[in-house]
Amino acid sequence: MFSNNAAPLPLAGKVALITGSESGIGRETARAFCQQGAAVVLNGRQPERLESTRQALAAEGYRVAACVADVTDYAACEQLVAVAIREFGRLDMLVANASISMRAYFLDMTPDVFRQVLDSNVYGAVFPLKAALPHLIRSRGSVTFISSISALNGMPSGSAYCAGKAALTNLAHTLRLELADTGVHFGVVHIGFTQNDPEKRVLDAAGQPVPIAHRPPRWQKSQAQVAAIILRHVQRRRQRTVISALGLLILVVHSVLPRLGDWVVRTSQQRLRNFYE
Ligand SMILES: NC(=O)c1ccc[n+]([C@@H]2O[C@H](COP(=O)([O-])OP(=O)(O)OC[C@H]3O[C@@H](n4cnc5c(N)ncnc54)[C@H](OP(=O)(O)O)[C@@H]3O)[C@@H](O)[C@H]2O)c1
Repeated sequence: MFSNNAAPLPLAGKVALITGSESGIGRETARAFCQQGAAVVLNGRQPERLESTRQALAAEGYRVAACVADVTDYAACEQLVAVAIREFGRLDMLVANASISMRAYFLDMTPDVFRQVLDSNVYGAVFPLKAALPHLIRSRGSVTFISSISALNGMPSGSAYCAGKAALTNLAHTLRLELADTGVHFGVVHIGFTQNDPEKRVLDAAGQPVPIAHRPPRWQKSQAQVAAIILRHVQRRRQRTVISALGLLILVVHSVLPRLGDWVVRTSQQRLRNFYE
């Protein structure tokens, strides 16, 4: 694919698989990759919503395919990767973005809900990667796990989500060491508060879908801004990207003054209950 002045776009000829891209940040990341010339395989669990995202991007002139797959099911992930190879012949980039979040205190949660959230954030990244890895090794490609700034320390009412996201950091590090000779890039993007699709839901303690907790609008980046940062992270093959000043502040305070960091979180927990509940 070529831009107006006929210079090839930076990702022309490359193929990306972005999980959980039928909506939200994943959808905007897919658009950002397409705008740079990549062909993109879209994914989600809701056929109608996925198809409508595919149609919207195809109508903008982009090369996109779609595959309904639950990424916590390994066989479904093999199908997902097979779609990339069948439609575009190769795979260069995996962005493991699909995730279920939560708003529930650990004491109240059923074990099943904890498992569901943890599975979606851990196996939902491990299984697509496992299925895609032979192709990514062939292309000396790139793997990015989408994480959260809440994985940098921990957040009340987010136990399973934070634990799952934190696991991805160690996984990326270990794979970077194990697979150093393959030339595959492994990175993690820690996303901060971002505008959400109005229909976004997270799980409560009983596993019921509920709207996400209140986030002050002035703290939120747009999905397009976050997508541009994810794109840059992949293109520069960065090991870690922490989005937003708040994310960097959390990183510094919890590394240098962890007790102060915990005091701030506990104080905010008492004063800003709707932020957590
Ligand atoms: N928004 C924020 O403020 C924020 C902050 C920090 C980190 N993040 C991270 O950014 C990423 C995107 O978040 P978002 O706000 O865009 O959330 P979202 O709107 O809920 O999008 C998540 C996507 O993942 C899909 N998904 C969930 N479980 C799946 C599964 N098992 N198999 C396949 N697809 C699955 C969802 O589709 P279906 O449920 O329809 O299948 C949806 O398309 C996530 O990793 C999230 O943790 C977001």
